[in-house]
Amino acid sequence: MLSNTIQSLLNQQVESEAASSQYYLAMASYAETKGYNGVAEFMYRHSDEERQHMLKLVRFINERGGHAIVPALSQPPTAFEGITEMFASLLEHEISITQKINELVAATLDEKDYTTHNFLQWYVSEQIEEEALARTIMDKLNLIDNDKGGLYLFDRDVAGFTVTSANDAPAG
Ligand code: FEO
Repeated sequence: MLSNTIQSLLNQQVESEAASSQYYLAMASYAETKGYNGVAEFMYRHSDEERQHMLKLVRFINERGGHAIVPALSQPPTAFEGITEMFASLLEHEISITQKINELVAATLDEKDYTTHNFLQWYVSEQIEEEALARTIMDKLNLIDNDKGGLYLFDRDVAGFTVTSANDAPAG
């Protein structure tokens, strides 16, 4: 059984993952309208992955006797300054998600909820991989430095970039 504190924190994380999914969907739509089809592909897939992260939490909360709450979401941005700025926002966003996961993990230790602690290890690994991928992408974009030919090649390649982590393994 989940404590009220842990249930509430897990539900906040449901909201964060749902908001991430919407955020990356907005990025996908922006990229697609600007002709960056590879970037759009990457972002559509990333958005789907965030929805899966949300669903794992929803199922876990309910399986542990809690009630997962489907949250209302605020509208994400509709425009970005450019592709580099958009990926910089993605990295910043993932760093903030890592922080939330870390706080959640700390709370499970305070509450002696070792089952939830164990479940969250998947998210800890996932965040390491997602941040690493976002940093690799930013390194490439900084090298390209808005060169049109470079961005063309980046767009072609980024469609194939995936997080190769815990994503392949079942949660919990
Ligand atoms: Fe749900 Fe981007 O990690």
